[in-house]
Amino acid sequence: MRRNALIDEARQAFITRFGREPEAAGIAPGRVELLGNHTDYNEGYVLPAAIDRSVVVVGSAREAPQARVASLEREPAVSFDPARPEHDPDARWADYVKGVVHELNEAGASIGGFDAVIVSDLPVGAGVSSSAALEVATAQFLLTLYPHPIVGDRMGLAKLCQRAENDFVGAPTGLLDQFSSVFGRQGHALFLDCRTLEHRAHNLPADQARILIADTHVKHSLASGGGYRERRAQCEEAARWFAQQTGEPIKTLRDVRPEQVDNAPGLDPILLKRAHHVVYENLRVLMGVEALQGGNLGAFGEMLSNTHESCRTYFENSAPEVDALVEISQAHPGVYGAKLTGGGWGGCAVILHEPDVTESLSETLTREYRVRFGRDPGLLPTVAAQGAEGMRFE
Ligand code: GLA
Repeated sequence: MRRNALIDEARQAFITRFGREPEAAGIAPGRVELLGNHTDYNEGYVLPAAIDRSVVVVGSAREAPQARVASLEREPAVSFDPARPEHDPDARWADYVKGVVHELNEAGASIGGFDAVIVSDLPVGAGVSSSAALEVATAQFLLTLYPHPIVGDRMGLAKLCQRAENDFVGAPTGLLDQFSSVFGRQGHALFLDCRTLEHRAHNLPADQARILIADTHVKHSLASGGGYRERRAQCEEAARWFAQQTGEPIKTLRDVRPEQVDNAPGLDPILLKRAHHVVYENLRVLMGVEALQGGNLGAFGEMLSNTHESCRTYFENSAPEVDALVEISQAHPGVYGAKLTGGGWGGCAVILHEPDVTESLSETLTREYRVRFGRDPGLLPTVAAQGAEGMRFE
């Protein structure tokens, strides 16, 4: 229902702006990382879910070889040549759209002129991957207007959108966000092996488990790319050390075994901590999958909480504000588990809980966070939802 209302709002916005009916729409959800923190670029395992908040791109083709894109949240609109999208430092948000146009052209889809409007009920900068959702919604929209076989290759599409983010936007992120947005399934968490790209959906039924995303409204300076790049480099350096020491064909931390991390004298203590987090996080994802297969949400929630502890002490990508949200949640009845979600250094906590405690948990979080930090957290109650799609208006 939420989706239909959003598509309708976008349709109306397009008519108001361009004075004609749109032909097509692309819709793509945000995501929440349940388990698998900073494992994706280490070729490890992740377990996210798509959420019931999305970005919608609606619009029509035009004969002129020009793209005009308006976002309800950001003025002014941008225009560019779809055959040669270029960066504009004054409209960075449009890089996500342009990056996808560029990558689609590279993949052989000749993207011609189009007009589009972007509408979203996904908060921007709140750790729920509005950027990946914008990329995937743009791709679905454009492939409906300018069809190309890649639309049938969902993993190819997720990777294409990741390239847009890595190469055009310049953010060195893994595949987690785009994968979740493309492959989301209602009532399911999504497992992905980031090396083999093997993936499966696991039951996370909304009548037993609800997801609360709690935004600290805080971004420490490391969040704006510096911390992420540094962690990535540390993980790569740690993997090189293990390869040299063991003589084994270790390419990434995915290849390092827990007993190797437990016995690594000589490894720089900081690199050891980073490796410890990633290697054990991969194990936690696999144990989390087992818990979901057995329908044991208690055990699954415990994995979330263990992950948070590892973020706090080993990966050092948490923040006092996130720790507080996690701690307050863990003390609340009916909570299975809670952790930091996404890159870190502020941002959001994800709390998995029984359906009937959403209200009391939200009240408690607001009250106690206010006492500790003098402001309210942003609260987004959600469930595991379906993935992206493109559609043509009749
Ligand atoms: C961000 C990135 C993802 C992933 C997470 C951490 O959300 O975009 O690729 O690395 O951080 O798990």
